[in-house]
Amino acid sequence: MSAAPLAPSMEPYSRHVLVCVGGFCSPDQAGRELYRLLPALLQREGLLFGPRRIKRGETPCLGVCTGGPIIVVYPEGIWYAGVTPALLERIVVEHLRDGRVVEDAVFHRL
Ligand code: FES
Repeated sequence: MSAAPLAPSMEPYSRHVLVCVGGFCSPDQAGRELYRLLPALLQREGLLFGPRRIKRGETPCLGVCTGGPIIVVYPEGIWYAGVTPALLERIVVEHLRDGRVVEDAVFHRL
C-alpha cells in the first residue's frame, strides 16, 4: 500500500516576476545577469521572505525577442523592456516594494 501524495500548498506572496534569460532579446546575457542580481535586491527591500515576498523565475523566452532584457510582473501584467541593472533596482523599489509602476520603461500591459 502506497502513501497518499502530499497536497500542494503555497505560502502567501505579493507578486511574481519573470525574467527572460534568453539569447534573442539580450544576446549579451544581460537577462541572466539581472536574474542573478534580483535576490539581493529583494532581500535588501524585505521582499524575499514573508507574505509580501516576490516570487521569481527565469524563462528562456517571453515571446518578445527584441529590445531586452524583458521582465514581466504579475498579477498586474506589466511588461518592461531594455532593463538595465539600474532599471531593475527601480522596478524592485518603486514597483515591487512601493506599488508604483515604472511608467517610462513599460512597453505593454495585460
Ligand atoms: S529571448 Fe527574451 S523574449 Fe524571446
